[in-house]
Amino acid sequence: MRSVDVALLALLVSATAFSGRAGAFEFTEHWRQPIPLQGPVPPGFDETESSLDPEDCGQCHESQYNDWIKSRHALAAGPGLMGQLHPPFLGSETVEMCLDCHAPLGEQRIYVRGERGKYTKNPDLDAKLLSKGLTCAGCHVRKHKRYGPVPKKTVDPPLPHEGFVAVENFGSSRFCRPCHQFEKHHRRINGKLVEDTYEQWKNSEYSKKGVSCAGCHMPGRRHLWKGIHDPAMVKKGIHIEAVKQGRVVKVTVTNSGAGHYFPTYVTPMVFVRSAVTLHGKTELVDEKYIGWNVELDLSKENFDTRIPPGQSVSFNFNMPDKAVKGKFTVAVIVYPDRFYNRFFRWILDAKPEGADLAMIGRAFRDTQSSRYVLFSKSWKALGLINRSAPSPN
Ligand code: HEC
Ligand code: HEC
Ligand code: HEC
Ligand code: HEC
Ligand code: HEC
Repeated sequence: MRSVDVALLALLVSATAFSGRAGAFEFTEHWRQPIPLQGPVPPGFDETESSLDPEDCGQCHESQYNDWIKSRHALAAGPGLMGQLHPPFLGSETVEMCLDCHAPLGEQRIYVRGERGKYTKNPDLDAKLLSKGLTCAGCHVRKHKRYGPVPKKTVDPPLPHEGFVAVENFGSSRFCRPCHQFEKHHRRINGKLVEDTYEQWKNSEYSKKGVSCAGCHMPGRRHLWKGIHDPAMVKKGIHIEAVKQGRVVKVTVTNSGAGHYFPTYVTPMVFVRSAVTLHGKTELVDEKYIGWNVELDLSKENFDTRIPPGQSVSFNFNMPDKAVKGKFTVAVIVYPDRFYNRFFRWILDAKPEGADLAMIGRAFRDTQSSRYVLFSKSWKALGLINRSAPSPN
C-alpha cells in the first residue's frame, strides 16, 4: 500500500461517527474493483439503514432518488448490457470488467475471482440489485459507511446510518474518472484511447477554470447526469448556425459548452443533412458526420470528426436546382446510441452463441428510437421561413 493510502486510512479511522471529515481522496481505495462486500451490518442499524436498495435510500433522500432514477446511471444494467453478459459470448473475466463500471458493488457481481484467478459464480449476488445498475451505494457506501461531500449546511446528530464521512473533493472530476477514462494500457484505436473523457476535460479550459464534471452534470449537486440523450442539455453546450449565401448554406457547429469533445466517445453519431421538399416529397441531398466512426470490432477507425472543447466545424451544402421551386432544409440529427445500435443489429443478424437475443432485440429498439432533431432551418425559393421542421429523413 502506498503511503498516501495509509495516510488516508488513518484519516478515515480518526473520523468521528457523524459528519466526520476526511481530507481529499485519491479515490484509489474508494474505487477498488470489485467493490468489497459491505460485510456485517453495524449493530443498531434498522432494516432500511442496512439496505443497499436505492428505493430504501430514497425513503429519506427523496430528491436525489427522483433525479437518479431518471438518469443513465440507473439504466446502466439495461438490456444492452445484460443481453451480452453470457458465456461464451463474453467470458467471466470480461463480464466482471464490464460490471466494474456498469454495476460495481460486490453484491452485484455475477462471478467472483478465486484462487489462481479462477472465476466462479458469486454466492452473494443480489440479482435485483444488479438490475438497478449504478446505484447510490455504488458511489456512496463502503462497509456500510456513507461517504459524501462536505455538507452545505450543518447537520446535527444523531443521524441515521451513524452519520457519514464528509470527503473534501467528493464532487471533483477525479471521482468520475475510473469509469469515464481508460488507463494508458487499455484499448486504443488509431493511437487514441477508446474512452478518454477525463483527459479531454483535463486538457480543456474548464479544468483550468475549476469547472468539474459535476459542475456541469450535477448542477446544485442534483443527481441528473444529463448528456447526449437529452436535447436540452446538448443545446446548452452546442451552438449551431446556418447561413445562406447565394445557393450555398453554411452550417457551423461549435462546441461552446461541453467540457470534452462533442461527442466525447464512440457511441453517438451526429448527422448534418440537407434535403429538398418538393410537391410534399422530401429527398435527402447531402449528409456529413460529427463523431468517431470505428469498426464494430474496434479494429480500425473510419473517421474522427469530433469537435474539441471551444472549437467549431463548418459544412457547406449546395442547393440543387430543385430547391429553387421547393423547400431546402438543413438539419442536425443526434443518434446518441449509434455505435451500439449498429452492434446490436449485427448480433441480431449473426446470432452469436450466448447472446440473449430477446434482450438485444429490446436494446436495438431502444437505441433506434433515441435519436432526435437538434436543429433545423428551412428556406423557400425566396427568403427564409425559419421554422422547426420535422426530421427530413
Ligand atoms: C471504463 C468503464 C466502462 C467499462 C469497463 C464498460 N463500459 Fe459500457 N459504458 C461506459 C460508459 C461511460 C458508457 C456511456 C457512454 C456514452 O453515453 O457515450 C457505456 C455505454 C455502454 C452501453 C450503451 C448504453 C446501454 O446501456 O445500452 C452498453 C450496451 C455497454 N456500455 C456495454 C458494455 C459491455 C458489454 C462492457 C464489457 C465488455 C462494458 N460496457 C464495459 C463505461 C464502461
Ligand atoms: C455516479 C455516482 C453517484 C450516484 C449513483 C449517486 N450519487 Fe449522490 N453524490 C455523488 C456526488 C459526486 C455528490 C457530490 C456532488 C458535488 O459535490 O457537486 C453526491 C452528493 C450526494 C448527497 C449530498 C447532497 C447535497 O446537496 O449536499 C446525497 C445526500 C447523496 N448524494 C445521496 C445519493 C442517493 C440517495 C443516491 C441514489 C438515489 C445517490 N446519491 C446516487 C455521486 C453519486
Ligand atoms: C432513515 C433515513 C435515511 C436512510 C434510509 C438513508 N439516509 Fe443517508 N442520510 C440521512 C440523513 C438525515 C443524513 C444527513 C443529512 C443529509 O445529508 O440529508 C444523511 C446523509 C447521507 C449522506 C451524506 C450527505 C452529505 O452531505 O455528504 C450520504 C452520502 C447518504 N446519506 C447516502 C445514503 C445512501 C446511499 C443511502 C442508502 C444506501 C442512505 N443514505 C439511506 C438519512 C437517511
Ligand atoms: C462506477 C462507474 C461510474 C462512475 C463513478 C460515474 N459514471 Fe457516469 N456513467 C457510467 C456508465 C456505465 C454510464 C452509461 C450508462 C448507460 O447508458 O448504460 C454512464 C453515463 C454517464 C453520462 C451519460 C449521459 C448520456 O446522456 O449519455 C454522464 C453525463 C455521466 N455518466 C456523468 C458522470 C459524472 C459527472 C460522474 C462523476 C460525478 C460519473 N458519471 C461517474 C459509469 C460511471
Ligand atoms: C462545461 C460543461 C461540461 C463539463 C465540464 C463536462 N461535461 Fe460532459 N457534457 C456536457 C454537455 C453539454 C454534454 C452534451 C453534449 C455532448 O455529448 O458532448 C455532455 C455529454 C457528456 C456525456 C455523454 C456522451 C457523449 O459521448 O458525449 C458524458 C459521458 C459526459 N458528458 C461525461 C463527462 C465527464 C466524465 C466529465 C468530466 C471529466 C464531463 N462530462 C465534463 C457538458 C460538460
